[in-house]
Amino acid sequence: MTVAPSTTMHDEVRLLAGEKNAVILAHNYQRPEVQDVADYVGDSLGLSRQAAATDAQTIVFCGVHFMAETAAILSPEKTVLLPDLGAGCSLAASIDAEQLREWKAQHPGAVVVSYVNTTAEVKAESDYCCTSGNAKSVIEAIPEDCEILFLPDLFLGVWLERTTGRKLKIWMGECHVHAGIRPADIERWQDEAPDAELLVHPECGCASQCMAFGNERTHILSTEGMINFAKASPKPRMLVATEIGIIHRLEKEAPGKRFEPVNRKAFCKYMKMITLEKLRDSLRDWKHEVRVEPAIAAVQA
Ligand code: 13P
Ligand code: SF4
Repeated sequence: MTVAPSTTMHDEVRLLAGEKNAVILAHNYQRPEVQDVADYVGDSLGLSRQAAATDAQTIVFCGVHFMAETAAILSPEKTVLLPDLGAGCSLAASIDAEQLREWKAQHPGAVVVSYVNTTAEVKAESDYCCTSGNAKSVIEAIPEDCEILFLPDLFLGVWLERTTGRKLKIWMGECHVHAGIRPADIERWQDEAPDAELLVHPECGCASQCMAFGNERTHILSTEGMINFAKASPKPRMLVATEIGIIHRLEKEAPGKRFEPVNRKAFCKYMKMITLEKLRDSLRDWKHEVRVEPAIAAVQA
């Protein structure tokens, strides 16, 4: 391909995507310019659905490694590219397959529910995989008399216990970004912006405390749940307790409303490893392919 000198990187990416029959999927925490060039932007649940449904031969995943692996499991016949293999996840790294096997051995017969932020090997050892968008319904669908091992996020697990009334055995993992959003961040904003709605991701260290406030202005939501809420709500001002990348999408989808992060340092360095340039290189040079061993993928299909 010859690129005209005036062509922007955005145009170059779109041209390459067309030429290579590739679909670009981006998570809500991606850089604004990456979100803007993508075919679809969403949360883990929405991205998984898109990965399973697309007709394109190639999926370029602008997100973190476990998300690209999930796409490879759902679409084994397609090529899945991740523009930077260093894009990991501190939460997914908090448990490996060996640790899960040991935990299962201590609880024979228990049902294992893994959050999507896990490696493919951990998913292969699990009975169910959920996202923040469907975790509650997955837990509710499991018969009452079953013991449930939930992993790897401690705060999401505690929130699930409270909202479903089920007792869970919970792995003590956490996301360093969400765990860094503290109750003090929320308390400060409750005082400074008493008129605003508060949107909180269930991975937040403050999630359970927010629920304890028990007020109707607090909403515990997946990232896409936040977008849907912001679009539908008549309220003009919202405080956001999750990774700051979502502010771009919120402003785009619900123009005219005011969105403020409760903690401006809530920045996922892994999500931000994907740049427009690396995305262009990924399409141009066909890198980096993410594969899941067929034996591991088959357990989850
Ligand atoms: P969502 O599925 O809600 O987008 O969350 C993904 C994630 O990595 C949160 O840190
Ligand atoms: Fe993982 Fe946390 Fe980054 Fe989400 S924000 S990808 S859970 S490290």
